Amino acid sequence: MCGIVGFTGEKQAAPILLDGLSKLEYRGYDSAGIAVRDGDAPAEVVKAKGRLKVLAEMLDDGKALPGTCGLGHTRWATHGEPSKANAHPHVSGNCTGSGSGAVESDVVGVHNGIIENYQEIREKLLRRGYTFYSDTDTESIIKLVDYYYKKYGIGPVDALTRTMVRVRGSYALAVMFKDYPGEIYVARKDSPLIIGAGEGETFLASDVPAILKYTRSVYYIGNLEVARLTPGEVHFFDLNGDEIQHDTVEIAWDSEAAEKGGFEHFMMKEIYEQPRAVQDTLNSVVKEGRIDLTSVGLTDEEIRDISQITIVACGSAYHVGVAAQYVIEELARIPVRVELASEFRYRKPLLDPKGLVIVISQSGETADSLAALREAKQRGVPVLAIVNVVGSSIAREADKVFYTLAGPEIAVATTKAYSTQLIACDLLAIQFGRVRGLLEEERYLALIAELQTIPNKISRVLKDKERIQWFAAKFANAQDIFFIGRGLDYAISLEGSLKMKEISYVHSEAYAAGELKHGTISLIEDGTLVIGVLTQDHLYEKTVSNMVEVKSRGAYLMGLTSYGHYEMEDTANFTVYIPKTEEYFAPSLAVVPLQLMGYYISVARGLDVDKPRNLAKSVTVE
Ligand code: G6P
Repeated sequence: MCGIVGFTGEKQAAPILLDGLSKLEYRGYDSAGIAVRDGDAPAEVVKAKGRLKVLAEMLDDGKALPGTCGLGHTRWATHGEPSKANAHPHVSGNCTGSGSGAVESDVVGVHNGIIENYQEIREKLLRRGYTFYSDTDTESIIKLVDYYYKKYGIGPVDALTRTMVRVRGSYALAVMFKDYPGEIYVARKDSPLIIGAGEGETFLASDVPAILKYTRSVYYIGNLEVARLTPGEVHFFDLNGDEIQHDTVEIAWDSEAAEKGGFEHFMMKEIYEQPRAVQDTLNSVVKEGRIDLTSVGLTDEEIRDISQITIVACGSAYHVGVAAQYVIEELARIPVRVELASEFRYRKPLLDPKGLVIVISQSGETADSLAALREAKQRGVPVLAIVNVVGSSIAREADKVFYTLAGPEIAVATTKAYSTQLIACDLLAIQFGRVRGLLEEERYLALIAELQTIPNKISRVLKDKERIQWFAAKFANAQDIFFIGRGLDYAISLEGSLKMKEISYVHSEAYAAGELKHGTISLIEDGTLVIGVLTQDHLYEKTVSNMVEVKSRGAYLMGLTSYGHYEMEDTANFTVYIPKTEEYFAPSLAVVPLQLMGYYISVARGLDVDKPRNLAKSVTVE
């Protein structure tokens, strides 16, 4: 995963690099480092284990490292433990220690991705006299660039293209060559990288929030391409070293969207942004009360022809798929299968060329989801992507794109992107149902009208947050929490459980309520918290029975249901209500109290809500 940044211009680079890295810390945060060049002087490298703030303090927020051209990196360890030596930037020279300080190296660089054949490259370079000071795959690629650069006496672009042909894996690589002051060279394959164009200055970053403060004008560098960045200018090259052209794209997000805006954590800010994010996503395709998928590129004829749908995603996006499966099958009567991308890609799935594969991804960069997309395309099945990040790899490679308009999501645990993905799936289900003749006009318009009430209803749920905070404080020391529900309520339970475990480190599991008796019920002890989700009327009594069963074995019950079901208080010890809505859309409301539960338990336990241990937001490695 990891985040990379770069700057060349007239301003001091270090403060800009540190600021950019602070917006990318969600990508990894076990160590960080920067390399800065002051004029013709060699790069000065400073690295530190731990959060970015350790590095920022060492550098007096960048003031201690003069120079106008530099690179930065925040790491999520893949090869080699989190340590100063394994932190980036890495250098080509035969230095000792951890590669810090003024480095008389010809090549200094940072990398996001994985070099699969790094061992083989490392051994080759060891035989040629290079010494290695880290356990990373990155050090091999930096030294390989140096090796080709010197062996053939070629320029930076050719040294990079030769390296790209030799390495296997994925990379967003940014390097500085000692002989080319003020210049940065980048190469990209399958890992995200954008280049920002400013007046007399040029930026690079793994993701847009890192440079939004400085420019909204960005270039997307293509796969297997190289770029040369000088102050205010960018030149692109293909693998043959021939120059190619790219135009800039204007980013609509504003820089405040990537700041905390008075909230203590990004996660809470993003929970609060859900009504707006859902509204924007609705507005993007609802015109005068009807759904218009022209911007997605789906025609009625294509919709009528879909024989089956396979939804592929990871993490919370997969949970959206689980919910969408119920809604699409019921409203549009198309068979839907939902799969984890990491399973799908190795399963040799049976796909009908008349089917549709839907890939759901906030970042548009998740390695397994991207691989699943490619697998589907290779088999000739059209792919529709539901993506939040414009210009991301999944968005670029999919045949059709439904953009969710959540804006930048910074907290590692997704909230608003999840909610917009749910809405996108609801919109598809309704439109598919209408086009395929399963929904009468009146029902079609009523469903859309109800969907448009969701943003307001989410705001109403948020008003209940103090009660949830109080309840969460009671369970801050819980050992285990179980989430149960049936049908769509099971889909919500999956997401509620994931939110809980990922940010509060409390063991939690989601179970289809009817499945409890097949094993999990033996884990229920006196006081174990069980959260029942009951938003589907036809399943309500069934789930109540399951709640009663665990209660009689000592469970403490929280019930999450719709206003009107006040008898829930006879069964549950604590009840949370959501506004009434069409049952298909209840996940959009019911997920909110569960997000708040996870959040408040994490806060009560004194944990780092936005950056939970061992996780990264954008999982760009397998
Ligand atoms: C990580 C994030 C999750 C996210 C998942 C898939 O695990 O922490 O919040 O759901 O990746 O990411 P994507 O960007 O593809 O939606």
